[in-house]
Amino acid sequence: MIEAELFKAVMAAAPGPAAVVTAMSADGEPCGLTVSAVCSVSLDPPLALACLDRGSNTLAAVRDSRAFTINYLAGGREELAMSFATKSDRKFDRANWTRPGAGAGGPILADDAAAYAVCRLEEIVEAGDHVILVGAVVEGGVAEEHHALAYARRAFFTGAQPDGARLAG
Ligand SMILES: Cc1cc2nc3c(=O)[nH]c(=O)nc-3n(C[C@H](O)[C@H](O)[C@H](O)COP(=O)(O)O)c2cc1C
Repeated sequence: MIEAELFKAVMAAAPGPAAVVTAMSADGEPCGLTVSAVCSVSLDPPLALACLDRGSNTLAAVRDSRAFTINYLAGGREELAMSFATKSDRKFDRANWTRPGAGAGGPILADDAAAYAVCRLEEIVEAGDHVILVGAVVEGGVAEEHHALAYARRAFFTGAQPDGARLAG
């Protein structure tokens, strides 16, 4: 088996998104945490995944509500990303959030997301000290004026896309 520090260094080398995965708790409180392990899974049907530590408080809210929302943070939201990476119960104090139109799903960080995907929980896959949440994406939105915040090697950055690097179509 690879040594833990080397494993972390390998996985941290490639940039990932800085997202906030949110859910509503059984007693109606907004919950959320910063997550870089999120990605698209399938187009037909539209599926996305997020990997959460088994010890995450937000995970309990996802299990209870059977729904979650992936908020891809906008550039410049480094402080928000770090505040959602704590165990504080006041994470939403500084965030403007709305409920998804469909009702089910976690809070949408209206002013701070470059894009969001509201998911109905399809499956929870146990995977070591984490779980993989597989969600059916039922609603989404994009704020074209924002580039998404990214994270690699313990640093945040915002990726503007030079026109020459865009794929056709
Ligand atoms: C940039 C960054 C990326 C992170 N990615 C993940 C992740 O993919 N999965 C995860 O479970 N925790 C991740 N974390 C750690 C959680 O945000 C942190 O443990 C948080 O306090 C959990 O909150 P909760 O217990 O209230 O849900 C990340 C933290 C940072 C700063």
